[in-house]
Amino acid sequence: MEEKKSVSKATAVIPKRLLQVLAKERSDQTPIWLMRQAGRYLPEYRKVRAEAGSFLTLCYTPELAEEVTLQPIRRFGFDASILFSDILVVPDALGQTVGFKEGEGPVLDPITDLAGIAKLDLARVTDHLQPVYETVRRLKLSLPKETTLIGFAGAPWTVATYVVGGRGSPDQGAAKSWAYRAPDEFQKLIDLLVEATILHLSEQVEAGAEVLQIFDTWAGSLPEPAFRRFAIEPAKRIVSALKTRYPLVPIIGFPRGAGPLVTDYVRETGIQAVSLDTGMSLNWARDNVQPMVPLQGNLDPLLLVAGGKEMRAGVAYIMETLGNQPFIFNLGHGIVPQTPPDHVGELVELVRGFKA
Ligand code: CP3
Repeated sequence: MEEKKSVSKATAVIPKRLLQVLAKERSDQTPIWLMRQAGRYLPEYRKVRAEAGSFLTLCYTPELAEEVTLQPIRRFGFDASILFSDILVVPDALGQTVGFKEGEGPVLDPITDLAGIAKLDLARVTDHLQPVYETVRRLKLSLPKETTLIGFAGAPWTVATYVVGGRGSPDQGAAKSWAYRAPDEFQKLIDLLVEATILHLSEQVEAGAEVLQIFDTWAGSLPEPAFRRFAIEPAKRIVSALKTRYPLVPIIGFPRGAGPLVTDYVRETGIQAVSLDTGMSLNWARDNVQPMVPLQGNLDPLLLVAGGKEMRAGVAYIMETLGNQPFIFNLGHGIVPQTPPDHVGELVELVRGFKA
């Protein structure tokens, strides 16, 4: 009897809180991870980043990408680890010229016509991104057993805003202009990105990603009909392809700025959880979205910068409103570089202090 007991203890599977919540099961505590949890706010990241030289070299060097993925886990013990990479490795893999300029962000050779789309090559994608999948395989071995490994990709619309605009822009004007002037042409770019994203996410699952997140950072800039066509439809195709191959891998959607269209986004795409941006009404989301799927979010990254009383009040409001139903604590958008690491530590303690 005694012996049997100790054996089962030794082989017991350590529960992963994030997977429990995504399966709508209860977990002992609300899981927490943060978008952009690896990055410039951490001195140890800046050191490895300097060693790598360029941002893309960091993304494509498995031992360095593994190291920076692990850094926030070591410091803060988050429940999930997000692969260190970027949404723009997909256009890079398709053959577009992609660079990251110091202090400027991404710079791409803009693609603005059908001839430009025709030069992109889907057949290169998975070969080109092998180092990223190698990073996933390494993380599978090095992460703590209780930490869930999240793979990700940008949604076609958001990636297209960089592909067409050549850089970040406040209004996504270049991509929108093409989408409105010649929607069937622009659709060809979206279709190509849908296929590339399916390949990229599938390879991450094959390498060991347990959960996927689709970042549609600029979804909120689309008016409703375009949101349906260029945000919901592509996500639906991606989710359905992945669900056919990997029915058990949960997919989190992040249609930032979707507002009340988030319910249609959830229903029509078939995602398993949705990440809420900072501006979302939490009472509304609790009543209208949480009955459909677990929610994730949505502390303002600038409250994390401020810390103190205001941050504590923000956390309490979120936990009191959403924490009693399936919920994953996160930010409403990524961590910003000026965030004091101590505030992140305090945030994790605060969330752990609430009993689910
Ligand atoms: O820790 C993590 O979350 C994993 C890594 C990750 C990065 N980018 C690393 C990164 C993830 C998930 C992303 C997603 C991403 N990348 C998005 C969607 C989410 C969002 O934040 O809206 C977008 C739009 C991008 C494109 C991108 N990459 C931009 C606009 C920039 C420049 C802005 C900036 O913060 O510098 C990047 C660069 C980037 N991606 C950095 C990091 C850590 C900083 C680059 C550096 O270290 O020099």
